[in-house]
Amino acid sequence: MILGIETSCDETSVALLDSDGSVRVNLIASQIERHRPFGGVVPEIASREHLQHLFPLVSRALEDANASWSDIERIAVTAGPGLIGALLVGVAGAQGLSYALGVPLVPVNHLEGHLFSPYLQREGAATALPPRFLSMVISGGHSQIYDVERGAVTMLNRTRDDAIGETFDKVAKFMGLPYPGGPQIEQWASQGRIDRRRFPFPVPQFKDESLDFSYSGIKAGAIRIARQQGIRADGDAKLLADFCATFQEALFAQLFSRLDAIWLRLQPPLPTEVAIAGGVAANETLRDKMLAWGRQHGVIVRLPEKRYCTDNAAMIAFAALQKSAQVTDPRRVTARSRIV
Ligand code: KG4
Ligand code: ZN
Repeated sequence: MILGIETSCDETSVALLDSDGSVRVNLIASQIERHRPFGGVVPEIASREHLQHLFPLVSRALEDANASWSDIERIAVTAGPGLIGALLVGVAGAQGLSYALGVPLVPVNHLEGHLFSPYLQREGAATALPPRFLSMVISGGHSQIYDVERGAVTMLNRTRDDAIGETFDKVAKFMGLPYPGGPQIEQWASQGRIDRRRFPFPVPQFKDESLDFSYSGIKAGAIRIARQQGIRADGDAKLLADFCATFQEALFAQLFSRLDAIWLRLQPPLPTEVAIAGGVAANETLRDKMLAWGRQHGVIVRLPEKRYCTDNAAMIAFAALQKSAQVTDPRRVTARSRIV
């Protein structure tokens, strides 16, 4: 089995997977409640929480999987990007375990964890990866589209400023909705009606032919509109619902405009599958839109199980299974807050 460890942000997670990608256990200790009073993640609190939870979770994972230390053949750990203090807890813990058990340690890029996650199954072996697929990673910290061809990962675009999840969270916070804002806005949006005239969110235009995302303009525009029209969590519910429906639609429209542009520029052999991953991929409206996009373009759409959308260690272990390179000296693994 492979042991996965994820501590890059506000979830401590430990997983055990078989080599075919079957998830034996995937435990997550979420810190959302601890950070909620502050309206966002507080790095120092995150590190302390990881320290408290990491080893108890490893022990519980072994118990739940009915396994022992000797069943662990490999360890995968998120090495970055993320909060450096949070990453260090996971990496140091994984280094110690790897050294003590005499098994290889594989450093994993958190984003690679997300981008393969749609292939994990709730039960049983993972879905086989096609020769080529696109994966759109949309989370609180990232918005980027990857091209994965026979295991080689190429980033096709990224956000120039804010991530899509961050945009959900910041606008929600401005209106007084609880953290994290994405699910809150989704809930309000489901009761609202799209009204682009009443809520004219700016559409980003670049002077060059860039395929990048940019969400800072929509964020600033949304906050300005919310302020001008007095849209508040404790205010007019119909107004809030319509605002959320229109705002959410504007955020997703940009995802599809970039995906369309990228799709047109691809050279054959074209990808046969398109996946979405990350916290925002839990959004039902987006999942439906994605399935419709797939039907239009004649490609298979892979949606991650909701449990694998937000940060988890199963996806980290699974990404490590895609790599042949292994680091055998755990001392050579280092945590990095940024990975370009
Ligand atoms: O992947 P994740 O747990 O953390 C990062 O690596 O960033 O993603 C968390 C993000 C938050 O911004 C949250 O608001 C957003 O995912 N999110 C959603 C939904 N569920 C979570 N955004 C829109 N709709 C949702 N249902
Ligand atoms: Zn993440």
